[in-house]
Amino acid sequence: MSSILEQLEAKRNEARLGGGQGRIDAQHEKGKLTARERLDVLLDEGSFEEYDLYKTHRCTDFGMQDQQIAGDGVVTGWGTIHGRPVYVFSQDFTVFGGSLSETHAEKICKIMDLAVQNGAPVIGLNDSGGARIQEGVASLGGYAEVFWRNAQASGVVPQISVIMGPCAGGAVYSPAMTDFVYMVKDTSYMFVTGPDVVKTVTNEVVTAEELGGSSTHTKKSSVADAAFDDDIETLLETRRLFDFLPLSMHEKPPVLPTTDLPDRIEPALDTLIPDDPAQPYDMREVITKIADEGDFCELQKDHAGNILVGFIRLNGAPVGIIANQPMVLAGCLDIDSSKKAARLVRFCNAFDIPILTLVDVPGFLPGTAQEYGGIIKHGAKLLFAYAQATVPMVTVITRKAYGGAYDVMASKHIRSDVNYAWPTAEIAVMGAKGASEIIYRKERDDPDKIAARAQEYEDRFANPFIAAQRGFVDEVIMPRSTRARVIRAFEMLKTKKVAAPLRRNDNIPL
Ligand code: HXC
Repeated sequence: MSSILEQLEAKRNEARLGGGQGRIDAQHEKGKLTARERLDVLLDEGSFEEYDLYKTHRCTDFGMQDQQIAGDGVVTGWGTIHGRPVYVFSQDFTVFGGSLSETHAEKICKIMDLAVQNGAPVIGLNDSGGARIQEGVASLGGYAEVFWRNAQASGVVPQISVIMGPCAGGAVYSPAMTDFVYMVKDTSYMFVTGPDVVKTVTNEVVTAEELGGSSTHTKKSSVADAAFDDDIETLLETRRLFDFLPLSMHEKPPVLPTTDLPDRIEPALDTLIPDDPAQPYDMREVITKIADEGDFCELQKDHAGNILVGFIRLNGAPVGIIANQPMVLAGCLDIDSSKKAARLVRFCNAFDIPILTLVDVPGFLPGTAQEYGGIIKHGAKLLFAYAQATVPMVTVITRKAYGGAYDVMASKHIRSDVNYAWPTAEIAVMGAKGASEIIYRKERDDPDKIAARAQEYEDRFANPFIAAQRGFVDEVIMPRSTRARVIRAFEMLKTKKVAAPLRRNDNIPL
């Protein structure tokens, strides 16, 4: 008996070495952890239960029958993060470059199926050369099985992708269908086709970093939600993000104990808005002053800075934040910011996370670049996402809420539940000067007259009371009491129930 146990231990140890010590050393030399070391950081100590450790590929072409490596390039199973279950796969670059074979895909599919059946998130640690070239269509079929499951699981359990090495070809499409993508700076890449193919087809010369590094995907393409310095920081940030998410659509998001008082007053907010309406201020300050312990888990920080999105906790409970940022493009809505915000609204609504919207928006960004780029369609994404959301929604207008953007930014009319305004709010069709130049067109060439008309318009509309008179704003609140008022509003909305209309699916303007 004891020799059988020893044999099992020896077999396990051999399997755990993946592609062997030489390749593990090479992985370390690149500043990367191995697939197993990564799971040690991601999961609670000792919580990992591994499946399919001995699974191997079935390929017999190109001499592959002589290269059988237990596990076939991916470590799969489940574990816990701060005690809550999560299904994981971690691709092992030391085995055939982490490439995806038919059996490698089967291992991933097995844990995805368990995740959906048992109602827990999936986190994939990606480090892969794409489809296993020796397997041909069997490998492509394997990818498609994973993609299909990504779509089925969307909105049922949260899915997070962490990109921790090269991800080429098919390896990028599964992450693209998940809810959040985190990357590691300098060691991770995502591209459909690599620099060599790009050179052959388009004659463009581009480095892997320029084509698909973390800077490209967090700033330009918005494929990634955030990037961090190394494997360890990225995995710790993934744990942090996980703590905001419910296990599935059937569960409530986790409420954590907090020592931050729900009725904490923030006098600094009373003086945050500058006297000059053209002066910017930092909306991030409003968010961190409202949030429990000032903690803001910001997503897409380096993309479309005119809107801020992410998660905070209010009295321990997670809340999604959408906030115009006056520091960038005066906080206007454009194509990128509309898409960025719409995506978080959709995620929050899918997973029953309440939404807090902070509004200071002078309107949509005008111009040919925006119109040719389809601002009508992309702006409509945000309008559609909010109009369809049934989770508790609270809105605070801090300053400008002009025109169509007023409607879009979780106004009462598209069914936000509680709408507050600070006394500094200006709710109107447009800014006073622009409005006067249109309605008093004949006086346009007389600056004094127009200034007087603008003052008249401002006196009448640059305040929250016209909207409050109609009930479009529920109450004009003291900025210092925003945290307390918003927490009470969400408390009141805890039991909100809205029946969504029956349909096969909506048709969001994609
Ligand atoms: C089989 C692969 C592989 C693959 C890498 N390897 N990619 N084996 N299939 N797709 C193997 C290499 O042969 C090598 O084995 C080992 O992994 C490490 O690879 P290196 O090239 O030495 O590493 P590195 O220099 O770090 O380069 C990593 C890389 C590069 C950038 C990922 O390997 C690469 O470009 N691979 C091919 C990427 C690609 O075109 N994939 C197919 C995409 S098509 P040895 O034994 O020599 O060490 C696709 C279609 C799916 O995915 C579409 C679905 C929609």
